[in-house]
Amino acid sequence: MKTIAHGPAFMVDEKGYYGRFGGAYIPEILHRNVKQLSDAFAHYVDDRDFNHELDILLSDYVGRPSPLYRAARLSERYGAEIYLKREDLNHTGAHKINNAIGSVLLARRMDKKHIIAETGAGQHGVATATVCALMGMDCTVFMGATDVMRQQPNVQRMQMLGARVVAVESGNKTLKDATNEAIRYWCCHPDSFYVIGSTVGPDPYPRMVAHFQSVISREMKAQLLEHTGREFPDAVVACVGGGSNAAGAFYHFIDNQDVRLIAAEAAGMGVDTDMTAATISVGTEGIIHGARTMVMQTPDGQIVEPYSISAGLDYPGIGPLHAHLADCGREEVVAITDREALDAAMLLTRTEGIIPALESAHALAALERIRFESGQTIVVNLSGRGDKDMHTYLSNLPSDFGR
Ligand SMILES: Cc1ncc(COP(=O)(O)O)c(C=O)c1O
Repeated sequence: MKTIAHGPAFMVDEKGYYGRFGGAYIPEILHRNVKQLSDAFAHYVDDRDFNHELDILLSDYVGRPSPLYRAARLSERYGAEIYLKREDLNHTGAHKINNAIGSVLLARRMDKKHIIAETGAGQHGVATATVCALMGMDCTVFMGATDVMRQQPNVQRMQMLGARVVAVESGNKTLKDATNEAIRYWCCHPDSFYVIGSTVGPDPYPRMVAHFQSVISREMKAQLLEHTGREFPDAVVACVGGGSNAAGAFYHFIDNQDVRLIAAEAAGMGVDTDMTAATISVGTEGIIHGARTMVMQTPDGQIVEPYSISAGLDYPGIGPLHAHLADCGREEVVAITDREALDAAMLLTRTEGIIPALESAHALAALERIRFESGQTIVVNLSGRGDKDMHTYLSNLPSDFGR
């Protein structure tokens, strides 16, 4: 396979394929846009001025590096050294801003004036609306009507930031439907710049988003060295919706086979029910939103509506990078139910005083499932904070709450 730079070295080829997953399956009308984006990314990815501007914004505006925190009480519980990579402490409360800043900076270099985005949990929408406010760009965010209801605080934040939020009423009104609508709008308005919020979509998006998120594992390496004297942990755990926080957390460890990469996907009510979003566990190969990947679909190729309590993981596809890593056994996949995620969120809240995003709670729940040797170093990527999920948490309180 001929590889190109800016994907973990052995993995992505010049057409954006990770093994047999990826590529760019797009309508004719978008060819020019996608080509321009590929060219611009190739040009700026190593550009000194571009990276200088990006680095300053990541440090002074986002607050990076995000801390790597040794969770003492969790470590005691699991008999391992548990570290949390605190992406929840970033400005806007999640990892999504890492990609939003890089992408909107690129859009500005390409002289684009109007940014569009899809969002599930609202974190990518808020991050994009934030960067657009910062850079004086127009912003339209597509969001499924179900998610508009369950992530109200983020809808209000986007509106306050000046973005137009379009509630999408098709399908089951979640992330897939928001993405469909964003792509439809993009086809009719090819001058707009589509900031995709995860490692999904046609090439170059998966490798571009992974690149902008790779700052997470770049920092982890330096921070681990400081904390433990070793750059490499024994395992990294992250939740996967489309796969961007996991891509960022795994990126600089992919080539080191001694580091276990553990992806937590959303089982919803269980992988053996029809209310699940565990795409890698139950999906088959197909095409969704411009890429060949694992898809939840019927035998004749109709998308199966996903379900998860977590809006950010409620998606019937997965980034091609993860489809490939799982396919070749490099990435271990655990499917976490709603109940397990809620319990893990409560555990973190009561043992460490940190309320995680529901998405991140899936990664924390994986600690109950995976076997590791005593004393091993495990990093959990805490992709976001739980403010947006307070309503869901409060409606699902355990019976002993308040005691
Ligand atoms: C806090 C948080 N974590 C994780 C995700 C899942 O996205 P990804 O798999 O791209 O990291 C989302 C998506 O909205 C999110 O808001």
